[in-house]
Amino acid sequence: MKKTLSILALTILVITASGQKADRFVNDLLSKMTLDEKIGQLNQYTGDWGATGKITSDGEKEKQIREGKVGSMLNVIGVDKTRKLQELALQSRLHIPLIFGQDVIHGFRTTFPVPLGETASWDLALIEKSARIAATEAAAYGIHWTFAPMVDIARDPRWGRVMEGAGEDTYLGSKVAVARVKGFQGNGLGNTDAIMACAKHFAAYGAAVGGRDYNSVDMSLRQLNETYLPPFKAAVDAGAATLMNSFNDLNGVPATGNAYLLREKLKKEWNFKGFVVSDWGSIGEMVPHGFAKDEYDAALKAITAGSDMDMESRCYRNNLKQLVQDGKVPVALIDDAVRRILIKKYELGLFSDPYRFCNEEREKAETNNADNRSFAREIGVRSIVLLENKPVNGKPLLPLSKSNAKIALIGPFGKATTAHHGFWAVPFPDDSQRIETLHDAIAAQLDKNASLIYSKGCNIQDNDTSLFAEARKTALSADMVIMTLGEAPDMSGEAKSRSSLRLPGVQEELLKTIFATNKPVILLISAGRPLIFNWAADNVPAILYTWWLGTEAGNAIADVLFGNYNPSGKLPITFPRTEGQIPIYYNHYNTGRPAKDDNDKTYVSAYIDLPSSPKYAFGYGLSYTRFEIGNLQLSSDKMKINKGKIEARVDVKNSGDYDGEEVVQLYIHKLIGSVVRPVRELKGFQKIFLKKGESKAITFTLTPEELKFYNDKTEFVNEVGEYELFIGDSSLASLKSRFTLNE
Ligand code: BGC
Repeated sequence: MKKTLSILALTILVITASGQKADRFVNDLLSKMTLDEKIGQLNQYTGDWGATGKITSDGEKEKQIREGKVGSMLNVIGVDKTRKLQELALQSRLHIPLIFGQDVIHGFRTTFPVPLGETASWDLALIEKSARIAATEAAAYGIHWTFAPMVDIARDPRWGRVMEGAGEDTYLGSKVAVARVKGFQGNGLGNTDAIMACAKHFAAYGAAVGGRDYNSVDMSLRQLNETYLPPFKAAVDAGAATLMNSFNDLNGVPATGNAYLLREKLKKEWNFKGFVVSDWGSIGEMVPHGFAKDEYDAALKAITAGSDMDMESRCYRNNLKQLVQDGKVPVALIDDAVRRILIKKYELGLFSDPYRFCNEEREKAETNNADNRSFAREIGVRSIVLLENKPVNGKPLLPLSKSNAKIALIGPFGKATTAHHGFWAVPFPDDSQRIETLHDAIAAQLDKNASLIYSKGCNIQDNDTSLFAEARKTALSADMVIMTLGEAPDMSGEAKSRSSLRLPGVQEELLKTIFATNKPVILLISAGRPLIFNWAADNVPAILYTWWLGTEAGNAIADVLFGNYNPSGKLPITFPRTEGQIPIYYNHYNTGRPAKDDNDKTYVSAYIDLPSSPKYAFGYGLSYTRFEIGNLQLSSDKMKINKGKIEARVDVKNSGDYDGEEVVQLYIHKLIGSVVRPVRELKGFQKIFLKKGESKAITFTLTPEELKFYNDKTEFVNEVGEYELFIGDSSLASLKSRFTLNE
């Protein structure tokens, strides 16, 4: 014990001492800097590819780098390119190195499942490892900083960016945020395989009205603090080096110029010591927002509110000096922003060796790293969600046998390559050769007595049905059909909001045509968001939701189809029945007129033309085996508000025919509050493995901390009273108990 304490004391001493050293170094450097050089540190440009907005021409940029007028670059990838620009930066008067940033969202050289898909694994250790590997690969290519994780809570699947985050739930989203920050930053900045994380987009971007990207957000501060901010707070507490602004206005004030968010919450209340980068051009966009008169005014509002670095709007570069000369911006404000950025450069080790991320050998080793590929397959299988597995001839269709079958693979993803990457994959010229197609992956697993035939059937997006007849013939000559449908990779992501969430083009028509052959159909859906596919859900016996799984998509899907891995994914976001039901999320309020059930329409809160429930609930996902969760016992039916705790114990039995993993979920409901409380709130989950026939008791511990919420004065409080507690395999869990929280 003593030894642990002294190690702890020593660690704190070392951290404090190195913090003081960094402060001394940076203060000394700051004292030598001209105002122009300071403003330069706040300026970030893009390399000329991968741009999501307007850009400055290359030659001009290089000149500015040499003059010390650029603090950071994004979209510059590779040791040769980053070295070249770093050399220019070191020619500047004070030789201050650049930081290279990049959207490393789901893998880098190896593409992993899209973040929403990874979250469906509910496996925090794997999610952390995915970020760890992405960081290692990116760092080897000269990158110091990723613009991830995206921690925006998203309850609206029309919003294309749901694919980038962890879905609709604050508790799950906060855990995933921490896992990703830890993964990216590894053993801490200063290690050459650690890159800075950037929790984005601060804040409430996911609540854009109508799910339309960049749209406004208007919400109570209570809702903001309770639902949307906690994943950011969790990321900050986990040590996230940076945050990024969001594009939206929040209650009338653009997030980029929002002092409540940046100064009051982030920098004061949460004591955030890192820096805030604007989103692409978001400082300048405060002009069209109607919040700033011109770019001069926009720069004033952004720096005053607490935005430290300007990504590509050039408002800081063009206006900050004048703002200082006009007495509108104190130099101290600029110093604070510059200091934050320089401290991170120091922590990254760039002042001692600006080229420490420029190592050709490391880059080569990460070019096609076999271990990373096999990890992509491992996290791929765990991201897949089994939505349907109805019996055909008395037996669930999945898993498939590898022998004695003639299988038809039909659909536009069967021989697709980069379509499995989805949006925000970092493109490399050899990507399409590195991806194992679904066709080849399935063929590789079949034994000699089985065969695979293929037909594309249609394209993802157009209305061409000319391949239907051939696809039908292919189906007719097989024993069963695997159909692979979904969204094109540019249909979910930034600026990819959709008003219709149906399978695009003629894919559903193709599905119906093939289904009409009476061959058993297994449907695979590749997408970045929840799609709406009611006909398929009601008719097709087996459906796997495969998101976009990345480099190892084919192998991962084949592993699940043939039962090498028994699917365990659970939905991190509710799947609606129609677009008109959106936003629909599990942790809604009860209202004064809740519907009793799906058919209740008598002056209750419901749609007259739809059941009230979603198509698939949050937390839902099937397995090839059967899990029974029972015998719920609480250690007490009372919890003391100060230091109390309750243990909830259940027995979980694998009573089916396969070994498998189950995600056991715990939800609470506070019956009465000074403000109304959600009908359910996730407060714990455990992913466990059970061999067939095996049982295990698992225990959750609840403390008053998990029961706190924001009252109408935006205070984070515990309120005494009665709670329901549910444990089960989804947000529909029916196993239930009660307890009270007492003084
Ligand atoms: C996106 C950010 C991204 C940035 C840099 C913006 O358009 O909103 O999420 O990090 O571009 O590529």
